[in-house]
Amino acid sequence: MAHGDNSKEKIVYVGDSRVRRGSGFITPPDYTAYPGKSEAFIPNFLLKEWMVGVVVLVGILVLTISEPAPLGFPANANATVIPIPDWYFLFLYQYLKLPYASGDYIVLGTLGVTGVAFGSLLLAPFLDTGRERRFYRRPIASSLMFLSLIAIVYLTNTAWTEYKHEMAETGQIPEDVQREEKAAENKAKGLPTTSAVQAKEIAIVDKDDPAMALFKQATCVTCHAVDMKGAGGPSLRGVGDTHDKEAILAIIKNGQGQMPPMQDTAMAAGLSEQDIDSLATWLAKQKSEQ
Ligand code: HEC
Repeated sequence: MAHGDNSKEKIVYVGDSRVRRGSGFITPPDYTAYPGKSEAFIPNFLLKEWMVGVVVLVGILVLTISEPAPLGFPANANATVIPIPDWYFLFLYQYLKLPYASGDYIVLGTLGVTGVAFGSLLLAPFLDTGRERRFYRRPIASSLMFLSLIAIVYLTNTAWTEYKHEMAETGQIPEDVQREEKAAENKAKGLPTTSAVQAKEIAIVDKDDPAMALFKQATCVTCHAVDMKGAGGPSLRGVGDTHDKEAILAIIKNGQGQMPPMQDTAMAAGLSEQDIDSLATWLAKQKSEQ
Protein backbone atom coordinates (compact mmCIF):
# COMPACT_ATOMS: atom_id res chain seq x y z
CA MET A 1 0.00 0.00 0.00
CA ALA A 2 2.66 2.47 1.02
CA HIS A 3 4.01 3.30 -2.40
CA GLY A 4 3.92 6.46 -4.45
CA ASP A 5 1.06 8.97 -4.33
CA ASN A 6 -1.26 7.96 -1.51
CA SER A 7 -4.13 10.23 -2.58
CA LYS A 8 -4.77 8.12 -5.69
CA GLU A 9 -4.80 4.94 -3.70
CA LYS A 10 -8.15 3.29 -3.22
CA ILE A 11 -9.19 3.33 0.44
CA VAL A 12 -10.04 -0.12 1.71
CA TYR A 13 -12.26 -0.62 4.73
CA VAL A 14 -12.44 -3.53 7.14
CA GLY A 15 -15.58 -5.48 6.35
CA ASP A 16 -18.52 -3.13 5.87
CA SER A 17 -17.30 -0.77 8.60
CA ARG A 18 -15.81 2.69 8.19
CA VAL A 19 -12.55 1.58 9.74
CA ARG A 20 -9.75 1.78 7.23
CA ARG A 21 -7.78 -1.30 6.56
CA GLY A 22 -4.21 -0.53 7.43
CA SER A 23 -1.00 -2.34 7.90
CA GLY A 24 -1.77 -2.29 11.59
CA PHE A 25 -0.70 -0.67 14.74
CA ILE A 26 1.81 -3.44 15.30
CA THR A 27 3.22 -4.65 12.02
CA PRO A 28 2.15 -8.29 11.75
CA PRO A 29 4.75 -10.91 10.94
CA ASP A 30 5.12 -11.81 7.31
CA TYR A 31 2.66 -14.56 6.59
CA THR A 32 2.93 -14.33 2.82
CA ALA A 33 3.17 -18.11 2.79
CA TYR A 34 -0.51 -18.08 3.74
CA PRO A 35 -2.10 -15.63 1.30
CA GLY A 36 -5.52 -14.41 2.41
CA LYS A 37 -5.22 -16.12 5.76
CA SER A 38 -3.57 -13.39 7.76
CA GLU A 39 -4.50 -9.88 8.73
CA ALA A 40 -3.48 -7.16 11.16
CA PHE A 41 -4.73 -7.71 14.66
CA ILE A 42 -5.47 -4.00 15.16
CA PRO A 43 -7.86 -2.87 13.76
CA ASN A 44 -8.93 -5.67 11.40
CA PHE A 45 -9.18 -8.69 13.61
CA LEU A 46 -10.21 -6.77 16.73
CA LEU A 47 -13.11 -5.19 14.87
CA LYS A 48 -14.47 -8.60 13.86
CA GLU A 49 -14.07 -9.83 17.42
CA TRP A 50 -16.00 -6.80 18.65
CA MET A 51 -18.86 -7.55 16.28
CA VAL A 52 -19.12 -11.09 17.58
CA GLY A 53 -18.83 -9.78 21.16
CA VAL A 54 -21.71 -7.36 20.64
CA VAL A 55 -23.96 -10.06 19.17
CA VAL A 56 -23.23 -12.41 22.12
CA LEU A 57 -23.81 -9.59 24.61
CA VAL A 58 -27.14 -8.64 23.07
CA GLY A 59 -28.12 -12.31 23.07
CA ILE A 60 -27.36 -12.62 26.79
CA LEU A 61 -29.21 -9.37 27.47
CA VAL A 62 -32.33 -10.61 25.68
CA LEU A 63 -32.19 -13.87 27.67
CA THR A 64 -31.76 -11.97 30.96
CA ILE A 65 -34.76 -9.79 30.24
CA SER A 66 -37.03 -12.58 28.98
CA GLU A 67 -36.14 -15.13 31.70
CA PRO A 68 -36.12 -13.61 35.18
CA ALA A 69 -33.83 -15.27 37.72
CA PRO A 70 -35.65 -18.24 39.27
CA LEU A 71 -35.41 -17.21 42.92
CA GLY A 72 -36.40 -19.80 45.46
CA PHE A 73 -37.15 -19.21 49.10
CA PRO A 74 -34.50 -17.20 50.90
CA ALA A 75 -31.79 -19.15 52.71
CA ASN A 76 -32.56 -19.71 56.36
CA ALA A 77 -29.63 -18.66 58.53
CA ASN A 78 -31.00 -20.69 61.44
CA ALA A 79 -31.35 -23.91 59.47
CA THR A 80 -29.29 -26.75 60.91
CA VAL A 81 -27.69 -27.84 57.68
CA ILE A 82 -24.13 -28.53 56.64
CA PRO A 83 -23.05 -25.58 54.51
CA ILE A 84 -21.69 -26.69 51.17
CA PRO A 85 -20.42 -24.65 48.22
CA ASP A 86 -21.79 -24.77 44.70
CA TRP A 87 -20.78 -27.89 42.75
CA TYR A 88 -17.94 -26.24 40.83
CA PHE A 89 -16.16 -25.40 44.10
CA LEU A 90 -16.70 -28.81 45.71
CA PHE A 91 -13.19 -29.95 44.82
CA LEU A 92 -11.64 -26.96 46.62
CA TYR A 93 -13.93 -27.57 49.60
CA GLN A 94 -12.78 -31.18 49.73
CA TYR A 95 -9.15 -30.27 49.10
CA LEU A 96 -9.19 -27.98 52.15
CA LYS A 97 -10.27 -30.93 54.30
CA LEU A 98 -7.07 -32.85 53.48
CA PRO A 99 -4.77 -33.19 56.52
CA TYR A 100 -1.88 -31.35 54.84
CA ALA A 101 -4.08 -28.49 53.66
CA SER A 102 -5.88 -27.76 56.93
CA GLY A 103 -5.29 -27.39 60.64
CA ASP A 104 -1.62 -26.70 61.35
CA TYR A 105 -0.90 -26.73 57.62
CA ILE A 106 -3.57 -24.24 56.63
CA VAL A 107 -1.02 -21.73 55.30
CA LEU A 108 0.55 -24.41 53.13
CA GLY A 109 -2.90 -25.49 51.91
CA THR A 110 -4.28 -22.05 51.16
CA LEU A 111 -1.23 -20.02 50.12
CA GLY A 112 1.52 -22.55 49.38
CA VAL A 113 -0.13 -24.99 47.01
CA THR A 114 -2.44 -22.49 45.32
CA GLY A 115 0.48 -20.06 45.03
CA VAL A 116 2.58 -22.63 43.21
CA ALA A 117 -0.36 -23.68 41.02
CA PHE A 118 -1.41 -20.19 39.97
CA GLY A 119 2.15 -18.92 39.90
CA SER A 120 3.17 -21.59 37.41
CA LEU A 121 0.07 -20.84 35.33
CA LEU A 122 1.16 -17.20 35.17
CA LEU A 123 4.69 -18.23 34.31
CA ALA A 124 3.60 -20.88 31.80
CA PRO A 125 4.38 -18.73 28.73
CA PHE A 126 7.98 -18.41 29.98
CA LEU A 127 8.37 -21.95 31.28
CA ASP A 128 6.83 -23.68 28.27
CA THR A 129 8.47 -22.04 25.28
CA GLY A 130 8.40 -25.02 22.93
CA ARG A 131 6.80 -24.52 19.52
CA GLU A 132 5.01 -27.84 19.67
CA ARG A 133 1.21 -27.46 20.03
CA ARG A 134 0.08 -31.11 19.91
CA PHE A 135 -0.72 -32.26 23.44
CA TYR A 136 0.86 -35.72 23.04
CA ARG A 137 4.16 -34.09 22.16
CA ARG A 138 4.12 -32.01 25.35
CA PRO A 139 4.32 -34.66 28.09
CA ILE A 140 4.93 -32.36 31.08
CA ALA A 141 2.21 -29.80 30.37
CA SER A 142 -0.25 -32.50 29.30
CA SER A 143 0.33 -34.80 32.25
CA LEU A 144 -0.04 -31.84 34.66
CA MET A 145 -3.34 -31.01 33.02
CA PHE A 146 -4.63 -34.60 33.15
CA LEU A 147 -3.50 -34.97 36.77
CA SER A 148 -5.36 -31.78 37.70
CA LEU A 149 -8.49 -32.96 35.88
CA ILE A 150 -8.38 -36.35 37.60
CA ALA A 151 -7.84 -34.68 40.98
CA ILE A 152 -10.78 -32.33 40.41
CA VAL A 153 -13.13 -35.16 39.42
CA TYR A 154 -11.95 -37.32 42.32
CA LEU A 155 -12.23 -34.54 44.93
CA THR A 156 -15.65 -33.42 43.67
CA ASN A 157 -16.95 -36.96 43.84
CA THR A 158 -15.52 -37.53 47.34
CA ALA A 159 -16.96 -34.24 48.59
CA TRP A 160 -20.42 -35.13 47.31
CA THR A 161 -20.32 -38.71 48.62
CA GLU A 162 -19.17 -37.58 52.06
CA TYR A 163 -21.80 -34.87 52.17
CA LYS A 164 -24.63 -37.26 51.30
CA HIS A 165 -23.32 -39.73 53.84
CA GLU A 166 -23.17 -37.07 56.55
CA MET A 167 -26.68 -35.87 55.77
CA ALA A 168 -28.08 -39.40 55.88
CA GLU A 169 -26.27 -40.13 59.13
CA THR A 170 -27.61 -37.05 60.89
CA GLY A 171 -31.03 -37.41 59.27
CA GLN A 172 -30.92 -33.96 57.69
CA ILE A 173 -32.62 -32.77 54.57
CA PRO A 174 -30.49 -30.48 52.36
CA GLU A 175 -31.68 -26.92 52.61
CA ASP A 176 -32.28 -26.59 48.88
CA VAL A 177 -34.54 -29.64 49.06
CA GLN A 178 -36.34 -28.13 52.06
CA ARG A 179 -36.89 -24.98 50.07
CA GLU A 180 -38.12 -26.92 47.03
CA GLU A 181 -40.55 -28.82 49.24
CA LYS A 182 -41.78 -25.57 50.74
CA ALA A 183 -42.27 -24.16 47.24
CA ALA A 184 -44.21 -27.27 46.16
CA GLU A 185 -46.30 -27.11 49.34
CA ASN A 186 -47.11 -23.46 48.72
CA LYS A 187 -47.89 -24.15 45.07
CA ALA A 188 -50.45 -26.75 46.09
CA LYS A 189 -52.07 -24.13 48.33
CA GLY A 190 -51.90 -21.48 45.63
CA LEU A 191 -49.43 -19.36 47.64
CA PRO A 192 -46.30 -17.62 46.38
CA THR A 193 -43.48 -20.04 45.59
CA THR A 194 -40.56 -17.67 45.27
CA SER A 195 -38.84 -15.16 47.46
CA ALA A 196 -39.39 -12.58 44.74
CA VAL A 197 -43.09 -12.62 45.55
CA GLN A 198 -42.62 -13.42 49.20
CA ALA A 199 -40.29 -10.47 49.69
CA LYS A 200 -43.18 -8.15 48.91
CA GLU A 201 -44.06 -6.40 52.15
CA ILE A 202 -47.25 -7.76 53.64
CA ALA A 203 -49.18 -4.99 55.35
CA ILE A 204 -50.95 -5.23 58.70
CA VAL A 205 -54.68 -5.41 58.08
CA ASP A 206 -56.86 -3.05 60.19
CA LYS A 207 -54.02 -1.47 62.09
CA ASP A 208 -56.44 0.67 64.10
CA ASP A 209 -58.52 -2.27 65.27
CA PRO A 210 -58.63 -2.47 69.10
CA ALA A 211 -57.32 -6.04 68.71
CA MET A 212 -53.90 -4.59 67.86
CA ALA A 213 -53.73 -3.30 71.44
CA LEU A 214 -54.87 -6.69 72.75
CA PHE A 215 -52.07 -8.32 70.73
CA LYS A 216 -49.60 -6.14 72.67
CA GLN A 217 -51.38 -6.56 76.01
CA ALA A 218 -51.46 -10.35 75.72
CA THR A 219 -47.62 -10.25 75.34
CA CYS A 220 -47.74 -11.91 71.91
CA VAL A 221 -45.34 -9.12 70.90
CA THR A 222 -42.45 -10.61 72.89
CA CYS A 223 -42.09 -13.28 70.23
CA HIS A 224 -44.03 -11.89 67.28
CA ALA A 225 -42.85 -8.24 67.57
CA VAL A 226 -44.91 -5.04 67.65
CA ASP A 227 -44.68 -4.81 63.86
CA MET A 228 -45.81 -8.49 63.70
CA LYS A 229 -42.73 -9.38 61.65
CA GLY A 230 -41.62 -11.83 64.32
CA ALA A 231 -38.85 -11.80 66.93
CA GLY A 232 -38.07 -15.35 67.93
CA GLY A 233 -41.50 -16.45 66.77
CA PRO A 234 -42.52 -16.30 63.11
CA SER A 235 -43.97 -13.27 61.35
CA LEU A 236 -47.74 -13.10 61.77
CA ARG A 237 -48.23 -10.79 58.81
CA GLY A 238 -50.44 -12.66 56.39
CA VAL A 239 -51.11 -15.40 58.97
CA GLY A 240 -54.75 -15.41 57.84
CA ASP A 241 -53.63 -16.96 54.54
CA THR A 242 -52.90 -20.25 56.28
CA HIS A 243 -54.90 -20.10 59.55
CA ASP A 244 -58.56 -19.41 60.17
CA LYS A 245 -59.95 -18.07 63.44
CA GLU A 246 -60.54 -21.53 64.91
CA ALA A 247 -56.96 -22.60 64.17
CA ILE A 248 -55.58 -19.44 65.77
CA LEU A 249 -57.77 -19.89 68.85
CA ALA A 250 -56.45 -23.45 69.14
CA ILE A 251 -52.84 -22.21 68.88
CA ILE A 252 -53.47 -19.60 71.60
CA LYS A 253 -55.06 -22.25 73.79
CA ASN A 254 -52.69 -25.17 73.18
CA GLY A 255 -49.53 -23.60 71.83
CA GLN A 256 -47.74 -25.00 68.79
CA GLY A 257 -44.17 -26.23 68.44
CA GLN A 258 -41.94 -23.76 70.28
CA MET A 259 -44.90 -21.59 71.25
CA PRO A 260 -46.33 -22.22 74.71
CA PRO A 261 -50.09 -22.17 75.40
CA MET A 262 -50.96 -18.48 75.79
CA GLN A 263 -54.58 -18.54 77.00
CA ASP A 264 -53.73 -18.25 80.71
CA THR A 265 -50.95 -15.71 80.11
CA ALA A 266 -53.33 -13.58 78.09
CA MET A 267 -56.03 -13.77 80.78
CA ALA A 268 -53.51 -12.95 83.48
CA ALA A 269 -52.58 -9.89 81.41
CA GLY A 270 -56.20 -8.77 81.68
CA LEU A 271 -57.83 -10.15 78.51
CA SER A 272 -61.32 -11.62 78.71
CA GLU A 273 -62.46 -14.65 76.67
CA GLN A 274 -64.22 -12.12 74.46
CA ASP A 275 -60.94 -10.22 73.96
CA ILE A 276 -59.10 -13.40 72.94
CA ASP A 277 -61.90 -14.12 70.52
CA SER A 278 -61.54 -10.67 68.92
CA LEU A 279 -57.78 -11.08 68.82
CA ALA A 280 -58.16 -14.37 66.90
CA THR A 281 -60.77 -12.83 64.60
CA TRP A 282 -58.44 -9.97 63.80
CA LEU A 283 -55.44 -12.27 63.26
CA ALA A 284 -57.49 -14.41 60.85
CA LYS A 285 -58.15 -11.23 58.86
CA GLN A 286 -54.38 -10.82 58.30
CA LYS A 287 -54.18 -11.85 54.68
CA SER A 288 -51.32 -11.00 52.34
CA GLU A 289 -53.66 -10.10 49.47
CA GLN A 290 -56.59 -7.80 50.07
C1 HEC B 1 -42.74 -17.41 73.78
C2 HEC B 1 -42.86 -16.86 72.47
C3 HEC B 1 -44.24 -16.70 71.86
C4 HEC B 1 -45.29 -15.98 72.38
C5 HEC B 1 -45.35 -15.18 73.68
C6 HEC B 1 -46.35 -16.12 71.42
N1 HEC B 1 -45.96 -16.89 70.36
FE1 HEC B 1 -47.06 -17.39 68.76
N2 HEC B 1 -45.54 -18.52 68.05
C7 HEC B 1 -44.31 -18.65 68.66
C8 HEC B 1 -43.53 -19.59 67.88
C9 HEC B 1 -42.10 -20.00 68.18
C10 HEC B 1 -44.36 -20.03 66.83
C11 HEC B 1 -44.01 -21.06 65.76
C12 HEC B 1 -44.55 -22.37 66.26
C13 HEC B 1 -44.20 -23.53 65.36
O1 HEC B 1 -43.14 -24.10 65.58
O2 HEC B 1 -45.01 -23.82 64.48
C14 HEC B 1 -45.60 -19.32 66.97
C15 HEC B 1 -46.67 -19.47 66.08
C16 HEC B 1 -47.85 -18.76 66.18
C17 HEC B 1 -48.92 -18.85 65.23
C18 HEC B 1 -48.94 -19.74 64.00
C19 HEC B 1 -48.12 -19.07 62.92
C20 HEC B 1 -47.87 -19.98 61.75
O3 HEC B 1 -47.67 -19.43 60.67
O4 HEC B 1 -47.84 -21.21 61.94
C21 HEC B 1 -49.90 -18.00 65.63
C22 HEC B 1 -51.23 -17.72 64.94
C23 HEC B 1 -49.43 -17.39 66.85
N3 HEC B 1 -48.18 -17.86 67.14
C24 HEC B 1 -50.17 -16.48 67.57
C25 HEC B 1 -49.75 -16.00 68.80
C26 HEC B 1 -50.58 -15.14 69.61
C27 HEC B 1 -51.97 -14.65 69.25
C28 HEC B 1 -49.86 -14.89 70.74
C29 HEC B 1 -50.30 -14.06 71.94
C30 HEC B 1 -51.49 -14.51 72.58
C31 HEC B 1 -48.58 -15.56 70.61
N4 HEC B 1 -48.58 -16.23 69.43
C32 HEC B 1 -47.59 -15.52 71.55
C33 HEC B 1 -43.88 -18.03 69.79
C34 HEC B 1 -44.66 -17.26 70.60
